[in-house]
Amino acid sequence: MGIPYGRQNITQQDIDAVVRVLKSDFLTQGPEIAKFEEAFAQYIGAKYAVAVSNGTAALHLSALALGVKPGQKVITTPITFAASANCVRYAGGEVIFADINPETYLLDINKVEDILKKDKDVVGIIPVDFAGRPVNLEEYKTLADKYGCWILEDACHAPGGYFSDSKGNKHNCGNGDFAELAIFSFHPVKHIAAGEGGMITTNDEELYHKLLILRTHGIIKDSEQFKNSIDLAVGQVPNQLTTHNSQLTTYPGWYYEMQELGFNYRLTDFQAALGFSQLKRADEGLKRRREIAEKYNENLIDKPYILGQSGVVEGHAYHLYVIEVQNRQGLYEHLRKNNIFAQIHYVPVHLMPYYKEFGWEPGDFPNAEAYYQKCLSLPMFPTLTDDEQNFVFNTIEEFYA
Ligand SMILES: Cc1ncc(COP(=O)(O)O)c(C=O)c1O
Repeated sequence: MGIPYGRQNITQQDIDAVVRVLKSDFLTQGPEIAKFEEAFAQYIGAKYAVAVSNGTAALHLSALALGVKPGQKVITTPITFAASANCVRYAGGEVIFADINPETYLLDINKVEDILKKDKDVVGIIPVDFAGRPVNLEEYKTLADKYGCWILEDACHAPGGYFSDSKGNKHNCGNGDFAELAIFSFHPVKHIAAGEGGMITTNDEELYHKLLILRTHGIIKDSEQFKNSIDLAVGQVPNQLTTHNSQLTTYPGWYYEMQELGFNYRLTDFQAALGFSQLKRADEGLKRRREIAEKYNENLIDKPYILGQSGVVEGHAYHLYVIEVQNRQGLYEHLRKNNIFAQIHYVPVHLMPYYKEFGWEPGDFPNAEAYYQKCLSLPMFPTLTDDEQNFVFNTIEEFYA
């Protein structure tokens, strides 16, 4: 099948975990969800975690919980998967793109501040730990506080990643120390695979409760929060007050209320069991990703055709290992001919026809567009063997020889 850029690693232990749930009483809404959420929150170092059906759903619910409304603007990077921006549109808000830093490939905080200085309608920032490189959220928090914005960290690429703050303290991506909310994806190419799946982490209890309600149709089951009367709950309607049973003091057991417009964005229990089983090996996988990155870095650093690369960066989670090269398309085709399926991350989101309709156009973000011309994501997954990685090097060398 060749060497893809990313690949899941499913063990017998993972399979057993899924089969056990398939044979249990609950395929969904069972005990596996809370187990996975607790373990994930602990791994990341956040107080709360909410499991959802995919990373896009995590972004959508986050935008709603943060209260994005029509007329409000949110800043994100053009070098990301479209979902990082789309969540703002789902909630009716406007996406404002800002250019990337050409060294880190991350949203350029100076460009973000330039926008914040001029535009009072910006309410939030969605920085992305692109490729697994952690955003310095301490700096973003200072900026967000200055301009009254919230931060939603798109940490899909970075479970296990961290950055060191100005005092040298480490902060895991998604731990909620600086961002109101963070989101993750469990798509098979990510660090933890659940087929599809996502997680939202936060330290904010109010946002946590909002997310739980939005995840399941906006339905409330806690009688303390019910808005309808007990009479209405048991089926009494005003014109039947003759049968009014005034001694009722508690709501019936079956009763629930839908108090706002929510969704079914639940994860199934067998996916949660897979995620939980994978989470146990997350550190091992991350260690291997870092080894692979170091080897790419060492072997490519002096090559004249390398114009930039992910490099060796403290706390990087290496979802991707990106190189920038001359004749990127030629190399891409040459690798494919040799069954190496390198990929491009990403086509800049502001150039998607959907976003061009909002007025974004080529030339808006020179760094993002220059990066896009040259970038290529090399195979990066924990089960990539040394022989396979050597074959990747040799095939690259062969192309530029
Ligand atoms: C940066 C980023 N954000 C959001 C998503 C959306 O996640 P999902 O595919 O689980 O909906 C992805 C996944 O592809 C991603 O890479």
